[in-house]
Amino acid sequence: NVASRVEDLLGRMTLEEKIGQLIITGVDQKDAPEIVARGGAGATIGLNTAQGVADIQRIARASRLGIPLLTGLDVVHGFRTLFPMPLAVASSFDTDLARQLAELSAREALASGINWTFAPMVDMGRDARWGRIVEGAGEDVLLAREMSRAQVEGYSAAGMASTLKHFVGYGGVEAGRDYDSASIPANELRNLHYPPFRSGIAAGADSVMSALSVLNGTPATADKARLTDVLKGEMRFGGFVVSDWSSIGDLIHMGVAADGAEAARKAMLAGVDMDMMSGYYAAHLLDEVRAGRVPEARIDDAARRVLGVKFRRGLFDNPQPDPSASEAAALTPELRDAARAAATRSMVLLRNENSLLPFTGKHRKIAVVGHLAQSAGEQLGPHEARGQDKDAVSILSGIRKEASTRGVDVAFSEGCDRACTDTSGFAGAVEAVQDADVSVVVLGEPREFSGEGATRSRLGFWGRQDELLDQLIATGKPVVLVIMAGRPLDISRFADRVPSILMAWYPGTEGGNAVADLLFGRSAPSARLPVTWPRSVGQVPVHYDGLTSGRPYGPASRFTLKYVDLPPGPQFPFGHGLTYTRFEYSGFRVETPSIAAEGEVRVSVDLRNAGERDGVETVQLYVRDVLASQSRPVCELKAFQKVALKPGETRRVVLAVPAAEFGFHREGGTYVVEPGEFRLWVGGDAASGTEGSFSLTSGIERGPE
Ligand code: IFM
Repeated sequence: NVASRVEDLLGRMTLEEKIGQLIITGVDQKDAPEIVARGGAGATIGLNTAQGVADIQRIARASRLGIPLLTGLDVVHGFRTLFPMPLAVASSFDTDLARQLAELSAREALASGINWTFAPMVDMGRDARWGRIVEGAGEDVLLAREMSRAQVEGYSAAGMASTLKHFVGYGGVEAGRDYDSASIPANELRNLHYPPFRSGIAAGADSVMSALSVLNGTPATADKARLTDVLKGEMRFGGFVVSDWSSIGDLIHMGVAADGAEAARKAMLAGVDMDMMSGYYAAHLLDEVRAGRVPEARIDDAARRVLGVKFRRGLFDNPQPDPSASEAAALTPELRDAARAAATRSMVLLRNENSLLPFTGKHRKIAVVGHLAQSAGEQLGPHEARGQDKDAVSILSGIRKEASTRGVDVAFSEGCDRACTDTSGFAGAVEAVQDADVSVVVLGEPREFSGEGATRSRLGFWGRQDELLDQLIATGKPVVLVIMAGRPLDISRFADRVPSILMAWYPGTEGGNAVADLLFGRSAPSARLPVTWPRSVGQVPVHYDGLTSGRPYGPASRFTLKYVDLPPGPQFPFGHGLTYTRFEYSGFRVETPSIAAEGEVRVSVDLRNAGERDGVETVQLYVRDVLASQSRPVCELKAFQKVALKPGETRRVVLAVPAAEFGFHREGGTYVVEPGEFRLWVGGDAASGTEGSFSLTSGIERGPE
């Protein structure tokens, strides 16, 4: 078994070799082969060819103890075939899809020798200014928990080691500024930020990456209370903790370590088992142990954790993939089909006045406008792993292909380039739109302005694209706006003036075909917003589950919760998303109006497809604890179910939630479910729904775990 194999190996290792397991070497480092040959590294990081990975792995296997390497890479939304970004996949509200994509990505990467991914990112995304919002599952804790579990299961099913990141509170950095600090109350950490880590751990996550940020005054990389006491203690995480890139070195810049030796010591004593690229574990850990400042038992613990993952993931037993077969495993028709289907299921139809979409035969000429429509590389988004621009199908070519099968003409005008500072091409775009029956205008933010290090202070389209859109709307021709971006953008100026708006996120390799499938009605949109869509940057952070105010918004009084210069509420609520048919809810019933805390709350409703096309509705259940010992959110998503119905079809939908889910953590950590009345809503987004109530006749009180 794994434990005895680990102990046997550990017993034969020198201190130097144990420390070696705690070090990542860059594949581009010139001395990497020599370091690996002497057992000086436990893992590699970076892009390499399948042959390069095989070569370094062969060196590791030929070293004294023959310990294989973890070969790490950010396989975040695919490897060579790129799927939609995680925020887009979260929009599908489809955990089976998330699991399938993780598994497919892992298989493609494993065929090239990559056996360890730095994914999933399970940080809460509640601030659209934060560029990394695109890498997570959005603002809701239930969705984040479910997506975390599904992705870990998917990676594990393929045999790839996964990483939950970033522990913890990284998504709460002040004003969305990447690399800044976060202040998060203890109960909010437990109610909101820990749960996706807990579910990922329960699903078998292998490693956890510490955050680059500072939480409540303590850098995450030196945070013993959270890494050791909470993560490894309370959450019983048995895998290993890896630092983020060079974040052990950042402890010096953050002013909590005087030099590399102190930084290495602090990180190791806090619970960081493996150093990603600061070089300080390699440079100082041996001396720190010899000087008695770091106990050898702590090194043993760290090495044991790393070796445990290697055994568990079969690194010692599975044969290395044949590098010459890696190309054949990449970009297969199966992967492309999955990428196309995933992209259609991830794009959110925000608006569709007078059923402009899907296109019917009456539109004989379509003008496609925008740099983002033709630049296939942009739609891959950040963290492209080994994805290549040349493999991607642009929106323009997807539309052209589909239009040609229907004898529809397509004209294209870029309007402006990716920076969109030069407006000289606007006139050409206006002409193309004037000359067409309908236009598809693809605007947003180029991919380099999304992801890590891409904090934004404004949320508009990049450059002068808004002026371009104004001019196109002024033609009076109907506009379909396709937004390509890694976050909700401020479209308040256009939201009521453009009849159809499709949020495409960064849809990946097959994005262009998927957009065409939706526009021409080969598929119907089914995705929902996993984030509340703000009206303006000043409304951020905005999320649907704010605490209940004593003065909620009401038009009758000045002294209520609102901005005086914005209409009430967000542009689009959490959970919003349209399709090409209509759904009707009726016969709503709370099956369990009064239950004990050990029981399950059940509600049921008849859902009818009242339109003329097939469609998928995401039925959502929101709950509010009416009277509690602490302020509770106005509502929280507690269950959701995707239901596919044919036109005219009706189905009784039942949603069930264990009453134990209706609790919260108090300041000291205790988890309580308090008896009393709860209100609930069932509907298609967080801002609407049929109301009911139930009461809990008993409660629960238990420790933090
Ligand atoms: O995995 C990432 C992390 O999320 C951000 N910094 C770099 C790491 C490795 O690429």
